[in-house]
Amino acid sequence: MSNGIIEKLEDVTPTVLRAMSAADDARLRTVMEAFVRHMHAFAREAKLTEAEYDLGLDFLNRIGQATNDSHNEGILFADAIGFSTLVCLMSNGAAGATETAAALLGPFWRANSPRTMNGGSIVRSPTPGPELFVECEVVDVAGKPLANVEVDVWQSSPVGLYENQDATQADMNLRGKLTTDAFGRFSFRSVKPAGYPVPTNGPVGDLLRAQNRHPYRRAHIHFLGFRPGYKTLVTQIFVDDDEHLESDVVFGVTRALVGDYRRHDHGKPPAADVRVPWYSP
Ligand SMILES: [Fe+2]
Repeated sequence: MSNGIIEKLEDVTPTVLRAMSAADDARLRTVMEAFVRHMHAFAREAKLTEAEYDLGLDFLNRIGQATNDSHNEGILFADAIGFSTLVCLMSNGAAGATETAAALLGPFWRANSPRTMNGGSIVRSPTPGPELFVECEVVDVAGKPLANVEVDVWQSSPVGLYENQDATQADMNLRGKLTTDAFGRFSFRSVKPAGYPVPTNGPVGDLLRAQNRHPYRRAHIHFLGFRPGYKTLVTQIFVDDDEHLESDVVFGVTRALVGDYRRHDHGKPPAADVRVPWYSP
Protein backbone atom coordinates (compact mmCIF):
# COMPACT_ATOMS: atom_id res chain seq x y z
CA MET A 1 0.00 0.00 0.00
CA SER A 2 1.27 3.45 -0.87
CA ASN A 3 1.23 6.01 1.91
CA GLY A 4 2.38 8.93 -0.22
CA ILE A 5 5.65 10.85 -0.37
CA ILE A 6 6.01 13.47 2.34
CA GLU A 7 6.15 16.90 0.70
CA LYS A 8 6.02 19.07 3.83
CA LEU A 9 5.90 18.97 7.62
CA GLU A 10 2.12 18.81 7.74
CA ASP A 11 2.16 15.59 5.71
CA VAL A 12 3.98 13.54 8.33
CA THR A 13 1.15 12.76 10.74
CA PRO A 14 -1.52 11.82 8.19
CA THR A 15 1.00 9.73 6.25
CA VAL A 16 1.89 7.73 9.36
CA LEU A 17 -1.79 7.29 10.25
CA ARG A 18 -2.51 5.99 6.76
CA ALA A 19 0.37 3.52 7.04
CA MET A 20 -1.06 2.10 10.27
CA SER A 21 -4.67 1.99 9.15
CA ALA A 22 -4.59 -1.54 7.76
CA ALA A 23 -4.14 -3.27 11.12
CA ASP A 24 -6.66 -6.11 11.48
CA ASP A 25 -7.20 -5.46 15.18
CA ALA A 26 -9.63 -2.54 15.48
CA ARG A 27 -8.54 -1.72 19.02
CA LEU A 28 -4.88 -1.66 17.96
CA ARG A 29 -5.81 0.78 15.19
CA THR A 30 -7.67 3.05 17.65
CA VAL A 31 -4.98 3.05 20.33
CA MET A 32 -2.01 3.51 17.97
CA GLU A 33 -3.75 6.25 16.01
CA ALA A 34 -4.40 8.22 19.20
CA PHE A 35 -0.86 7.54 20.39
CA VAL A 36 0.76 8.82 17.17
CA ARG A 37 -1.51 11.86 16.95
CA HIS A 38 -0.69 12.85 20.52
CA MET A 39 3.04 12.10 20.21
CA HIS A 40 3.27 14.25 17.10
CA ALA A 41 1.23 17.00 18.78
CA PHE A 42 3.53 16.76 21.80
CA ALA A 43 6.64 17.30 19.66
CA ARG A 44 5.02 20.28 17.95
CA GLU A 45 3.73 21.88 21.15
CA ALA A 46 7.04 21.47 23.01
CA LYS A 47 9.01 22.46 19.87
CA LEU A 48 11.17 19.45 20.65
CA THR A 49 14.82 19.90 19.69
CA GLU A 50 17.04 17.11 18.38
CA ALA A 51 19.05 17.17 21.60
CA GLU A 52 15.86 16.75 23.62
CA TYR A 53 14.75 13.95 21.31
CA ASP A 54 18.06 12.17 21.97
CA LEU A 55 17.72 12.75 25.70
CA GLY A 56 14.18 11.34 25.69
CA LEU A 57 15.20 8.19 23.83
CA ASP A 58 18.18 7.72 26.16
CA PHE A 59 15.75 8.07 29.08
CA LEU A 60 13.52 5.34 27.62
CA ASN A 61 16.49 3.05 27.06
CA ARG A 62 17.69 3.61 30.62
CA ILE A 63 14.22 2.67 31.89
CA GLY A 64 14.60 -0.68 30.17
CA GLN A 65 18.14 -1.16 31.44
CA ALA A 66 17.09 -0.37 35.03
CA THR A 67 14.31 -2.98 34.92
CA ASN A 68 15.02 -6.49 36.20
CA ASP A 69 13.25 -9.40 37.90
CA SER A 70 12.81 -7.50 41.16
CA HIS A 71 12.37 -3.92 39.93
CA ASN A 72 10.19 -2.38 37.21
CA GLU A 73 11.41 1.11 36.33
CA GLY A 74 8.74 1.40 33.62
CA ILE A 75 5.94 1.13 36.17
CA LEU A 76 7.77 3.58 38.40
CA PHE A 77 7.95 6.09 35.54
CA ALA A 78 4.23 5.68 34.74
CA ASP A 79 3.52 6.12 38.46
CA ALA A 80 5.72 9.21 38.80
CA ILE A 81 3.94 11.05 35.98
CA GLY A 82 0.48 10.14 37.31
CA PHE A 83 -0.28 7.90 34.36
CA SER A 84 -0.89 4.78 36.46
CA THR A 85 -3.33 6.56 38.75
CA LEU A 86 -5.14 8.06 35.76
CA VAL A 87 -5.67 4.66 34.12
CA CYS A 88 -6.55 3.06 37.47
CA LEU A 89 -9.25 5.64 38.21
CA MET A 90 -10.63 5.41 34.67
CA SER A 91 -11.03 1.66 35.06
CA ASN A 92 -12.17 1.13 38.65
CA GLY A 93 -14.54 2.30 41.36
CA ALA A 94 -16.83 4.47 39.19
CA ALA A 95 -13.93 6.69 38.13
CA GLY A 96 -12.81 7.10 41.72
CA ALA A 97 -16.21 8.09 43.09
CA THR A 98 -16.88 5.09 45.29
CA GLU A 99 -15.48 4.26 48.70
CA THR A 100 -13.68 1.23 47.35
CA ALA A 101 -11.79 3.07 44.66
CA ALA A 102 -8.92 0.98 43.43
CA ALA A 103 -5.29 1.90 43.87
CA LEU A 104 -2.00 0.70 42.48
CA LEU A 105 -0.78 -2.82 43.28
CA GLY A 106 2.75 -1.50 43.71
CA PRO A 107 5.91 -3.59 43.64
CA PHE A 108 5.72 -5.16 47.12
CA TRP A 109 2.81 -7.59 46.89
CA ARG A 110 3.92 -11.20 47.41
CA ALA A 111 1.99 -14.38 46.72
CA ASN A 112 1.32 -16.90 49.51
CA SER A 113 0.94 -14.55 52.45
CA PRO A 114 0.44 -16.53 55.66
CA ARG A 115 -3.16 -17.40 56.51
CA THR A 116 -4.27 -15.24 59.41
CA MET A 117 -7.34 -15.74 61.60
CA ASN A 118 -9.71 -12.81 61.97
CA GLY A 119 -8.46 -10.72 64.87
CA GLY A 120 -5.02 -12.30 64.58
CA SER A 121 -1.72 -10.48 64.31
CA ILE A 122 0.34 -9.96 61.15
CA VAL A 123 3.36 -8.94 63.26
CA ARG A 124 5.65 -11.94 62.87
CA SER A 125 8.84 -10.61 64.47
CA PRO A 126 9.41 -7.82 67.01
CA THR A 127 8.46 -4.59 65.19
CA PRO A 128 8.55 -1.50 67.42
CA GLY A 129 5.94 1.17 66.75
CA PRO A 130 2.41 2.28 67.59
CA GLU A 131 0.01 -0.65 67.64
CA LEU A 132 -2.79 -0.73 65.13
CA PHE A 133 -6.10 -2.60 65.22
CA VAL A 134 -7.79 -2.82 61.83
CA GLU A 135 -11.43 -3.71 61.22
CA CYS A 136 -12.79 -3.79 57.68
CA GLU A 137 -16.01 -4.67 55.92
CA VAL A 138 -16.20 -5.81 52.31
CA VAL A 139 -19.45 -5.03 50.49
CA ASP A 140 -20.61 -5.44 46.89
CA VAL A 141 -21.60 -2.50 44.67
CA ALA A 142 -25.12 -2.58 46.19
CA GLY A 143 -23.67 -2.35 49.71
CA LYS A 144 -24.39 -5.98 50.61
CA PRO A 145 -21.72 -7.59 52.82
CA LEU A 146 -19.60 -10.18 51.01
CA ALA A 147 -18.57 -13.32 52.88
CA ASN A 148 -15.65 -15.55 51.93
CA VAL A 149 -13.59 -12.85 50.26
CA GLU A 150 -9.92 -13.72 50.47
CA VAL A 151 -8.03 -10.56 51.40
CA ASP A 152 -4.27 -10.13 51.21
CA VAL A 153 -2.94 -7.32 53.38
CA TRP A 154 0.63 -6.00 53.28
CA GLN A 155 2.33 -2.90 54.59
CA SER A 156 5.62 -1.25 55.45
CA SER A 157 6.93 -1.17 59.00
CA PRO A 158 6.85 1.91 61.28
CA VAL A 159 10.27 2.85 59.82
CA GLY A 160 8.98 2.57 56.24
CA LEU A 161 10.45 -0.77 55.11
CA TYR A 162 8.72 -3.86 53.73
CA GLU A 163 9.99 -7.14 55.18
CA ASN A 164 11.73 -8.10 51.94
CA GLN A 165 13.79 -4.90 52.10
CA ASP A 166 14.76 -5.29 55.75
CA ALA A 167 16.95 -8.05 57.24
CA THR A 168 15.66 -7.28 60.76
CA GLN A 169 12.12 -8.42 59.90
CA ALA A 170 10.98 -12.04 59.70
CA ASP A 171 9.92 -13.44 56.33
CA MET A 172 6.31 -12.35 55.63
CA ASN A 173 6.25 -9.89 58.55
CA LEU A 174 3.34 -7.43 58.22
CA ARG A 175 1.65 -9.59 55.59
CA GLY A 176 -1.39 -11.80 55.93
CA LYS A 177 -4.19 -13.53 54.07
CA LEU A 178 -7.59 -13.17 55.76
CA THR A 179 -11.11 -14.27 54.86
CA THR A 180 -14.25 -12.21 55.43
CA ASP A 181 -16.82 -13.73 57.81
CA ALA A 182 -20.57 -14.10 57.27
CA PHE A 183 -20.96 -10.33 57.79
CA GLY A 184 -18.29 -9.44 55.25
CA ARG A 185 -15.89 -8.46 58.02
CA PHE A 186 -12.24 -9.14 58.67
CA SER A 187 -9.91 -7.74 61.29
CA PHE A 188 -6.26 -7.97 62.27
CA ARG A 189 -3.67 -6.54 64.57
CA SER A 190 -0.56 -4.77 63.30
CA VAL A 191 1.66 -1.73 63.78
CA LYS A 192 1.24 1.66 62.16
CA PRO A 193 2.96 1.86 58.75
CA ALA A 194 5.23 4.72 57.72
CA GLY A 195 5.81 6.33 54.34
CA TYR A 196 8.84 5.30 52.30
CA PRO A 197 10.88 6.46 49.31
CA VAL A 198 10.57 4.85 45.89
CA PRO A 199 13.90 3.74 44.36
CA THR A 200 15.81 6.78 43.07
CA ASN A 201 18.97 5.19 41.62
CA GLY A 202 17.51 4.97 38.10
CA PRO A 203 16.35 7.49 35.48
CA VAL A 204 13.11 8.21 37.37
CA GLY A 205 15.22 9.33 40.32
CA ASP A 206 17.07 11.71 37.98
CA LEU A 207 13.74 13.13 36.81
CA LEU A 208 12.47 13.63 40.37
CA ARG A 209 15.68 15.46 41.33
CA ALA A 210 15.50 17.67 38.23
CA GLN A 211 11.92 18.58 39.18
CA ASN A 212 12.80 19.24 42.84
CA ARG A 213 10.41 16.48 43.92
CA HIS A 214 10.82 14.25 46.98
CA PRO A 215 10.61 10.47 46.41
CA TYR A 216 8.19 9.61 49.24
CA ARG A 217 5.05 7.55 49.22
CA ARG A 218 2.65 8.36 52.04
CA ALA A 219 1.97 5.78 54.75
CA HIS A 220 -0.60 3.18 53.71
CA ILE A 221 -1.79 -0.40 54.03
CA HIS A 222 -2.35 -2.44 50.87
CA PHE A 223 -5.40 -4.67 50.35
CA LEU A 224 -6.18 -7.18 47.60
CA GLY A 225 -9.68 -8.67 47.81
CA PHE A 226 -10.44 -11.79 45.76
CA ARG A 227 -13.64 -13.79 45.39
CA PRO A 228 -14.53 -15.85 42.32
CA GLY A 229 -17.23 -14.15 40.25
CA TYR A 230 -16.16 -10.63 41.28
CA LYS A 231 -13.55 -8.28 39.94
CA THR A 232 -10.48 -8.42 42.17
CA LEU A 233 -10.16 -5.23 44.18
CA VAL A 234 -6.64 -3.86 44.63
CA THR A 235 -6.55 -0.86 46.91
CA GLN A 236 -4.70 1.02 49.65
CA ILE A 237 -5.85 2.90 52.73
CA PHE A 238 -3.74 5.91 53.65
CA VAL A 239 -2.88 7.06 57.16
CA ASP A 240 -4.84 10.28 57.61
CA ASP A 241 -2.45 11.94 60.08
CA ASP A 242 0.43 11.86 57.60
CA GLU A 243 1.20 15.55 57.35
CA HIS A 244 2.31 15.29 53.73
CA LEU A 245 -0.69 13.39 52.37
CA GLU A 246 -1.04 15.83 49.51
CA SER A 247 2.38 15.08 48.04
CA ASP A 248 2.53 11.35 47.30
CA VAL A 249 5.27 10.88 44.68
CA VAL A 250 3.09 8.51 42.64
CA PHE A 251 -0.19 10.44 43.08
CA GLY A 252 -1.87 7.44 44.73
CA VAL A 253 -3.71 9.38 47.44
CA THR A 254 -7.30 9.84 46.31
CA ARG A 255 -9.89 11.28 48.68
CA ALA A 256 -11.84 8.02 48.90
CA LEU A 257 -8.73 6.18 50.12
CA VAL A 258 -7.80 8.37 53.08
CA GLY A 259 -8.49 6.22 56.14
CA ASP A 260 -9.54 7.07 59.67
CA TYR A 261 -6.70 6.02 61.97
CA ARG A 262 -7.92 7.03 65.43
CA ARG A 263 -5.29 7.55 68.09
CA HIS A 264 -6.10 6.31 71.60
CA ASP A 265 -4.12 7.72 74.53
CA HIS A 266 -6.50 6.54 77.26
CA GLY A 267 -9.08 3.87 77.88
CA LYS A 268 -9.08 0.11 77.87
CA PRO A 269 -6.73 -1.25 75.25
CA PRO A 270 -8.02 -3.95 72.91
CA ALA A 271 -5.50 -6.48 74.27
CA ALA A 272 -3.69 -6.85 77.60
CA ASP A 273 -0.20 -6.27 76.20
CA VAL A 274 -0.97 -3.00 74.40
CA ARG A 275 0.64 0.27 75.51
CA VAL A 276 -0.66 3.73 74.65
CA PRO A 277 -0.97 5.19 72.16
CA TRP A 278 -2.65 2.65 69.93
CA TYR A 279 -4.63 3.21 66.74
CA SER A 280 -7.90 1.78 65.53
CA PRO A 281 -10.45 2.51 62.82
FE1 LIG B 1 3.20 0.30 49.52
